[in-house]
Amino acid sequence: MTDLNGTVAELMARGKGILAADESIATMSARLEGAGVAATAQNRCAYREMLVTTPGLSQGVSGVILSDETFRQRLAAGPTFPEALASAGILTGIKVDTGAKPLAGQPGEKVTEGLDGLRERLSEYASLGARFAKWRAVIVIADGCPSRQALRANAHALCRYAALCHEAGIVPIVEPEVLMDGQHSMDLCAKASIAAQLATFAELQEFGIQLDAVVLKPNMVVPGKDSAEVAGPEEVAKATLETLCMAVPEEVGGIAFLSGGQPPAKATANLAAIRCLPAPWPVTFSFGRALVDPALAAWRGVPAKVTAGQRALGQQVAANSAALTGGFSLPADAMLMALDDPDPDPDHARSR
Ligand code: G3H
Repeated sequence: MTDLNGTVAELMARGKGILAADESIATMSARLEGAGVAATAQNRCAYREMLVTTPGLSQGVSGVILSDETFRQRLAAGPTFPEALASAGILTGIKVDTGAKPLAGQPGEKVTEGLDGLRERLSEYASLGARFAKWRAVIVIADGCPSRQALRANAHALCRYAALCHEAGIVPIVEPEVLMDGQHSMDLCAKASIAAQLATFAELQEFGIQLDAVVLKPNMVVPGKDSAEVAGPEEVAKATLETLCMAVPEEVGGIAFLSGGQPPAKATANLAAIRCLPAPWPVTFSFGRALVDPALAAWRGVPAKVTAGQRALGQQVAANSAALTGGFSLPADAMLMALDDPDPDPDHARSR
């Protein structure tokens, strides 16, 4: 059995965060096509190989989350992705949910599936080198949403997933993500986030889950993507930490934020501001788009652009690592606004 607390400590090592490269085949294919790259298994593999072989990646990345497809693919030189990551001193994570599906009886809301056969899958992933896992629940803000039913159904699934991970010697990343989609205010995001986290921890505690062997992956508290409200990093940081402090037990092993479709520069600035406030848990990033979007745009499937893609990823990792260690200075809000660009993948919420 692996040392769960040791894995948490490695994931949360100072100045390091997690690279979420676990987009489903559908989401990754859409992103590749958006960048003008044919959506083949080979190109998905080449793209992920470009990411994980970025020189010096382990200086700012403690773990990489893979999808099942990538987990089983091989780099051009022969090793599997878990083998290549282990050689680079990076932990392998695996996304084990099978996606968010419509929740019967609750129109517009979803429950994440994937519990069937999960014990066997986790045992196989562990034997092939996985040290941590991810399960993402999506919580929608809309009229009457999130409902208590959606919060409870998702919290229960997250809890059963976490228990099975521990049984397999794998650290669970528990992700109840309140989506940014919509015109809602930051205050509504805070309320929904508290509700989602309270429901999740009520369930985890009810089942006696070892909380210091769990990493929570929450959204930051921000206004909806289509809201006119503007929130600077200090405001986001304050609201985010107040929310977490109301709902998350102090024993939790660590907090690793998702970026949720925020422009990369904003996600980094918000992370830097969060890190400036006192918190009872170690805090880091577990970003997908905020780390990889610039790399995909620089690479675009052109073999001669691998170095450019890796440079772009390296810059994002370095900036977020600096955000964690105090070496990142907040750009003026006006500059952050100029860096805004809409999420290039509106399907993200549905298909990831
Ligand atoms: O489940 C969400 C991902 O792991 C993080 O992706 O940073 O693009 O929201 P994101």
